[in-house]
Amino acid sequence: MKTVNYAVVGAGYFGAGLARLIDALDGAKVVAVYDPVNAESVAKELNCDVEPSIESLCKRPDVTAVLVASPNGYHKEPVLRAAAHGKHIFCEKPIALSYEDCNEMIKTTKDKGLIFMAGHVMNFMNGVRKAKQLINEGKIGDLLFCHAERNGWEEPQQEVSWKKKREISGGHLYHHIHELDFIQFLMGPAERVCMVGGNVAHQGEQFGDEDDMLFITLEFAGNRFATLQYGSAFRWSEHYVKIQGTKGAILIDMQDVRVVLKTPDGEEQFLLHESREEDDDRTRIYKGLEIDGAIMYGRPNMTPPMWLHSIMSKEMNYFHSIMQGAPVEEEFKPLLDGTAARASIATADALTLSIEEDRKVSVHEITGREAVKA
Ligand SMILES: NC(=O)c1ccc[n+]([C@@H]2O[C@H](COP(=O)([O-])OP(=O)(O)OC[C@H]3O[C@@H](n4cnc5c(N)ncnc54)[C@H](O)[C@@H]3O)[C@@H](O)[C@H]2O)c1
Repeated sequence: MKTVNYAVVGAGYFGAGLARLIDALDGAKVVAVYDPVNAESVAKELNCDVEPSIESLCKRPDVTAVLVASPNGYHKEPVLRAAAHGKHIFCEKPIALSYEDCNEMIKTTKDKGLIFMAGHVMNFMNGVRKAKQLINEGKIGDLLFCHAERNGWEEPQQEVSWKKKREISGGHLYHHIHELDFIQFLMGPAERVCMVGGNVAHQGEQFGDEDDMLFITLEFAGNRFATLQYGSAFRWSEHYVKIQGTKGAILIDMQDVRVVLKTPDGEEQFLLHESREEDDDRTRIYKGLEIDGAIMYGRPNMTPPMWLHSIMSKEMNYFHSIMQGAPVEEEFKPLLDGTAARASIATADALTLSIEEDRKVSVHEITGREAVKA
């Protein structure tokens, strides 16, 4: 099979990790990287070129697909440039920080018939796939309610990371879009939403400007609901999704790592990741001090922890298989054309409007804007 050449925009902690993983696959080669700071070391390691600009990287005739792993607010330019040059795209989450930007990115990639895969890596966790399977088999009946928490406590930072700056990261909700995306995968698009919260304990020079406590309610068609909590002002940290149905419930615990199916017949446990070792390693990391305020920090030369490395590897394997011509399964279609990612950003935008205007917001107020313009 012919070798597929890749180029990487943003070679920091995640970009370098993805580049290493895809480069190691059969029939894959990273041929170029662009990063204003970290390109040299990654290029040397992977024996590839450093490109001086996003445009020069995207226009290379030898590149089939571009991996975008720059900070959240800087995804749009490389995606649009890559699409303009007919390159397929893998883009880290959140793909953009507004519904309008998602629309533009999707329209451009769709018009050109390109794959535009979002880095919603939760989809590649075994336990998440198991939960979807159990739900499809009717094990917990009809879904009524989901609740997710992803929170912790943030310490002062010597140099404040872009991940703490709302304009570049979008804040906790956009930066950790995974849980919202997963809940909408299960329940469909939210119809009416509400968010309260604020920056309650992290003001000053050693902190960013994001809200450190967010409380969210989502209303779905058919009298179904979800609530979510995000933030870095929680001394008692949690990271889980709980799914409540008419016949049973499922807990996907990403801190005390396990998946539990609970029905009137009893409880059954499943692994979240590939092995007991990966699950235990994640529990150890979360219960230790290696995570700050629910956010993972890393450097380009750092290998992500075992569990993360393993799902990133699955994600890259999947993207590479599509680049080599494998068909896209039905389940993954909305992940590979940007539409699932856009649906979560539409809801995040509605939630942002809700907190700004101190009212409950219909998601249609965001998604209907295009229709009004047209
Ligand atoms: N899927 C996940 O679970 C997960 C986990 C961590 C990070 N991420 C995502 O990956 C992306 C990168 O995060 P990270 O942890 O590697 O951050 P990072 O800060 O370690 O790396 C970002 C890199 O982008 C470079 N950069 C800055 N501005 C740029 C620009 N305009 N164009 C290109 N590169 C630029 C920086 O020099 C840096 O090397 C983010 O979108 C983040 O949300 C996803």
